[in-house]
Amino acid sequence: MRLSERIRYVGVNDFQTTLFERQWPLPYGVSYNSYLVVGEKVALIDTAAAQFGDEFLSNIKAEIGDRPVDYLVVNHMEPDHSALQSLVRREYPACEIVTNAKAAPMIEGYQGITDNIKIIKEGETLPLGEVSLQFFMVPMVHWPETMVTWCPEENTLFSGDAFGTFKAVPESVIDSESTTFDDYKDEMTRYYASIVGKYGGPAQTALKKLGGLEIKRICATHGPVWQNSIPEVVALYDRLSRYDADHGVCLAYGSMYGNTKKAALELAEAIKAKGIPCAVHDLTEENYSFALRDVFKYDTVILGSPTYNNGIFPPVRQLMQAIADRMVKGRKFIAFGSFTWAASSVKLLNEMASGAGFEILSDGITFKQGYTKDKFDAEGLASLL
Ligand SMILES: Cc1cc2nc3c(=O)[nH]c(=O)nc-3n(C[C@H](O)[C@H](O)[C@H](O)COP(=O)(O)O)c2cc1C
Ligand SMILES: [Fe+2]
Ligand SMILES: [Fe+2]
Repeated sequence: MRLSERIRYVGVNDFQTTLFERQWPLPYGVSYNSYLVVGEKVALIDTAAAQFGDEFLSNIKAEIGDRPVDYLVVNHMEPDHSALQSLVRREYPACEIVTNAKAAPMIEGYQGITDNIKIIKEGETLPLGEVSLQFFMVPMVHWPETMVTWCPEENTLFSGDAFGTFKAVPESVIDSESTTFDDYKDEMTRYYASIVGKYGGPAQTALKKLGGLEIKRICATHGPVWQNSIPEVVALYDRLSRYDADHGVCLAYGSMYGNTKKAALELAEAIKAKGIPCAVHDLTEENYSFALRDVFKYDTVILGSPTYNNGIFPPVRQLMQAIADRMVKGRKFIAFGSFTWAASSVKLLNEMASGAGFEILSDGITFKQGYTKDKFDAEGLASLL
């Protein structure tokens, strides 16, 4: 697929994998994007996941026929992009790998490749004839070896996982009137929250470093090529990496026998009645990445958990731990839940939220045994928002 005379898309869509990184559901699939930059020399930027070797090679050959790939640029060593490096080497034995000093030992570690590797430095340029590539390190977005590749003649940024998103690429590959940023916004947020979320600081550093480039095309490793929504895509990444959020609530709960659930649904109604957006997630029904997405989206987190073995109900603890691991900042917090003989889930959730620096809006409500309206003042909690 031709993005321009000199830039070609050779990535693949994956509709088979159910869980990305064996953790994150893929209801709309995912793509592993790879690109060719075609000048007098041909550079391939990143590869794809292991199971797509045949399709990947045939995509390359459809673009360049019998011409060889002269360079393989390695921006990132996570195996969803690096697994086919050895295959590329077998097909194009003279192909020189172009990467940075942090990635080279990982290439040896994953692929056993040690020869014909060119180590480039920050800002260095690789000429390909009438086009060239320039390299910028973006460490910890989201691995230590991550870098981006810039093609100044095409104003194109090969950004690696930065600006990436779940959800396969459309037939057009490029964003268009029928495939807009809005179609991807939720999945981009979920990708960011799940995978990059801990690295807001490094992502901010990267955005500042790349801020001076006049970017007309973003070629990330997952999701569409962005040409028509670049300001929106960059603005979303900027907000997410600053942990900046809209006013609203992510209300997530787990419940074994329905009492905490009844309280959750009552509270959601009370919040919505005030005109405040409230996304509700049953953590026993769906993967926690959907709730995590809305923790990044909204400024208030409300968690419902029964007491379980003198602790937090495990699906709820998993989400709270994921929030803490990602060092989410600046959220308001409320907890609630049912218990039978000795309550502890609300107290423990409040402690974890305090540890994360969240503003605890209330001691929360812990109620004994069955849910009744008089044990749980939903309007009272909603009035704190
Ligand atoms: C395995 C298990 C462990 C529990 N541990 C505690 C506990 O340590 N303290 C307590 O007060 N209740 C405990 N409970 C009782 C629940 O908190 C109680 O059933 C609660 O009402 C469940 O709320 P739900 O209807 O929202 O699931 C436990 C229940 C189960 C099944
Ligand atoms: Fe990655
Ligand atoms: Fe990736």
